[in-house]
Amino acid sequence: MTSPEDSKRSWNMHNELITRQRDKFEIEFKMKHKDGHWVDILSRANAIFDENNKAVRVVGTHVDISERKKLENQLLQAQKMESIGTLAGGIAHEFNNILSIIVGNNELLMDELPEWSAARENSEEIRIAGLRAKDVVKQLLTFTRQDNAELKPIDISPIVKESIKLIRSSIPANINIHQNISKDTAPVSGNPTQINQILINLCSNAADAMKNKGNTIKISLSNESFDEGCKAVHPALSPGQYVKLMVIDTGSGMDNKTLDRIFEPYFTTKKIGKGTGIGLAIVHGIVERHSGVIFVKSAPNKGTTFTILFPAYQGQIEKDSDERTDLPTGNEKILFVDDEPVLLKLGKQRLELLGYHVQEHTDPREALKVFKEDINAFDLVITDMAMPHMTGDQLVSEILRLRPEIPTMLCTGYSENISVEKASEIGFKAFAMKPIDRSEFAVTVRKILDESQN
Ligand SMILES: Nc1ncnc2c1ncn2[C@@H]1O[C@H](COP(=O)(O)OP(=O)(O)O)[C@@H](O)[C@H]1O
Ligand SMILES: [Mg+2]
Repeated sequence: MTSPEDSKRSWNMHNELITRQRDKFEIEFKMKHKDGHWVDILSRANAIFDENNKAVRVVGTHVDISERKKLENQLLQAQKMESIGTLAGGIAHEFNNILSIIVGNNELLMDELPEWSAARENSEEIRIAGLRAKDVVKQLLTFTRQDNAELKPIDISPIVKESIKLIRSSIPANINIHQNISKDTAPVSGNPTQINQILINLCSNAADAMKNKGNTIKISLSNESFDEGCKAVHPALSPGQYVKLMVIDTGSGMDNKTLDRIFEPYFTTKKIGKGTGIGLAIVHGIVERHSGVIFVKSAPNKGTTFTILFPAYQGQIEKDSDERTDLPTGNEKILFVDDEPVLLKLGKQRLELLGYHVQEHTDPREALKVFKEDINAFDLVITDMAMPHMTGDQLVSEILRLRPEIPTMLCTGYSENISVEKASEIGFKAFAMKPIDRSEFAVTVRKILDESQN
């Protein structure tokens, strides 16, 4: 069976052939296999004519070219991503320079404006918007692999397990997570925070796709090795050892038109406010940065499978103290503020895994209210910087006015604007850049708590 369009094209060509308007029949079309899936066919034929120039017979062949088509598509896809990447990278750099001028000048302006002037509030708005814009630029740079996240030989299975724990708490409870994580996967040259980011993005998409179903996300990690035949899996692969990460859902799936575009930055099919379209672009950038490949299989209403192959690292990994069991713990009470609910949940979960008691708020004004109710209820305050209604430094200035000795920590998504010096000038005891490394976070929290108790 073929589609009506294809059969019309084919029929027209057939007619041209037997009426000698063309001398060769050659056409590509899709045909439905008897088990239901579509196959790409290359059909070639010649006509045989009798002495009266009447076609008596058409002979030809049908060749299944599905594999070749798949490879051609993957190649086109890779080229497209490459050119979008170059474009986005160029824009990001150019934009970053302009932004630095805006933000820098605004800072100078702010220093001139007295606390009480209304213009200072406007200037503050400019500053917050500038910080947001910096975050956007940073995301774009991750997509174009131009970020400078450090890669080192790591064992990714504990990272995947840890990520799953964090994801569990941030997706709806009626969605199950089934994990099949092999213990002895090969080491990979990677960045733990970025691998965590991959899983968060893939799983939140999977959860979104299964909204009303209460289905299962399957996550698996295993070793995989390829010989010469690997090009059939993906043209960018070369023979060797890999670690394979798969995220499989049974959700809404995607049609080919959507599939073609999912890795483009800002491509989304979700409602405004629900999707930003940057998740998979970031995943793509991270996978490339790890010299890996990513591919997708999806069918509408059936579900989606994302497969990522990381090249195995050839050599030993040096054991460092990055193991979770070595992380310092505690049982103090922490007030945690971030306007982004997902980050808030993840941070809370991380701290709770370490033993701390956490009260979290997305609205800094709420947090301040709670703090005022009992200024001795908390041992530490951790806050985001750019938030609506009240920035992190404003919040902490208020808190320190009420209780000058309480330790405070700033977590921020940008670097240039608020330096370590500036943060400590405001009164912050510690400063961390997002995305925050798990062990660094644990160590810093313990350190400032200990310092405050001495
Ligand atoms: N597991 C999935 N199932 C169905 N569609 C998906 C899945 N993952 C991604 N998509 C599609 O890809 C688009 C882009 O995803 P992403 O880059 O993460 O941006 P966002 O989630 O903000 O829309 C989504 O809007 C959705 O249409
Ligand atoms: Mg997403």
